[in-house]
Amino acid sequence: MVTNTMSQPTKLAVIGAIHVDRIAHAGRPILPDTSTPGEISGKPGGVAANIARALARLDCNPALIGCVGNDPDGLWVRKHLSATGIDVSTVKVLDGQRTGSYLALHQPDGSLHAAISDSEITQLIPKPVAGSLTPALEQAGIWLAETNMETEMLEAIAAAKGDRILAVDTVSSAKATRLLPILDKLDILFTNRLEASSLLGMDADAPAVDMAQALTAKGCKTIAITDGSRPLILSVDGKERVITPLPAEPKDVTGAGDAFIAGFLSAYSQGLAAEQAAYSGLAASAITVEATGAAPDSLSLSAIAQRLQSH
Ligand SMILES: Nc1ncnc2c1ncn2[C@@H]1O[C@H](COP(=O)(O)OP(=O)(O)OP(=O)(O)O)[C@@H](O)[C@H]1O
Ligand SMILES: [Mg+2]
Repeated sequence: MVTNTMSQPTKLAVIGAIHVDRIAHAGRPILPDTSTPGEISGKPGGVAANIARALARLDCNPALIGCVGNDPDGLWVRKHLSATGIDVSTVKVLDGQRTGSYLALHQPDGSLHAAISDSEITQLIPKPVAGSLTPALEQAGIWLAETNMETEMLEAIAAAKGDRILAVDTVSSAKATRLLPILDKLDILFTNRLEASSLLGMDADAPAVDMAQALTAKGCKTIAITDGSRPLILSVDGKERVITPLPAEPKDVTGAGDAFIAGFLSAYSQGLAAEQAAYSGLAASAITVEATGAAPDSLSLSAIAQRLQSH
């Protein structure tokens, strides 16, 4: 078995956005200035919370570091996340603040008509300080951060990490550039091709291998560039590998990237090398795109093992 540099299995801490997602599916085309009949449902969301949910499905019991408001949404989402196996003792409940939320309106054909994201509270997560870390951060050997947090917070995380593994998710093309000042501090960068091109200021059509090389030149150690059903580029210490995703029959690609990160980190935290971790990530993604929503019930360690065996 090829292992990474960690001497033993380690705990994970996930830092970033926790939302309540409200998703509306219109029963007929949405018109302005009037109400449209349809179905509205609520579920936990936010990139960090979704990755933590997927990690919990993979028996990782991660600590989730974030904030919610002292309001009904905050109480609901905390309870829901805790029931999934996430340590929410590190989720701060802030008086007088709104819990983050995301509101999406979908047309009857499933296309997105409009969406609003309210994640102001994510900027209130306390900055970690080396030497006085909270127990959850102190005890975790791997920190996963995401770019819903601003550069200043990401810099504080990079400065406080010590010899822990710092992994980050670029989240979106617009937010990816928040990582520019800390690229040389990143142990693992999870990104997709468009986000990587935005981060680097490169043409979106440039080969992903070129993007991986440019990121290595800026100091990132391990880089995973996903590209939907197209090949993944995995770069470890400047050595690139092109890996074909596992075959899947997608039903809903929501959470594909979050699942890849969770599958990768669950294996990596057990000491497996990046390449094996990437296969675990690809299996987690394949399982997730064949179900509905992020962190589906069908995602488990045994489902990953089965998927990899039949590959
Ligand atoms: N249409 C698809 N068919 C098969 N596999 C897919 C498909 N879309 C995504 N995947 C799998 O999920 C992985 C991550 O997908 P993708 O590159 O779309 O992530 P992402 O853009 O970060 O997604 P997210 O919007 O969840 O953040 C891919 O490497 C692949 O294994
Ligand atoms: Mg993503």
